Amino acid sequence: MNPHVSHHLLLCANSKKSLCCDTEEGNRTWEKLKNVLKNNNLEDPTRSQGIVLRSKVDCLRICHSGPILLIWPDGIWYKDVYANRIERIIESHIIQGNPIKEWVLKETPLKNMASSF
Ligand code: FES
Repeated sequence: MNPHVSHHLLLCANSKKSLCCDTEEGNRTWEKLKNVLKNNNLEDPTRSQGIVLRSKVDCLRICHSGPILLIWPDGIWYKDVYANRIERIIESHIIQGNPIKEWVLKETPLKNMASSF
């Protein structure tokens, strides 16, 4: 049986050359993200609220104010996601369901996606 997915997190952290942030900064954020998800058992396929997926991507077509973190299905785009912001984003947004408005760059909920681009 495939596990239910609660969220998919896409982090722009190009391992070669990132335009939106310092490449090493992006990689630090990626490593922190992996650790925080693991330490909170959010990648456990038996988690009742659903598994949290993560993907490291080369570009999310923002290309400034990075590292950029996009969270589906909410369509929340976080800016300036340095490693020291990851714990609060995971705790507040993913676990408690409260996005951190002051760090949001834009919102593109799936139902509005076609008109947002
Ligand atoms: S390089 Fe990060 S959004 Fe384009």
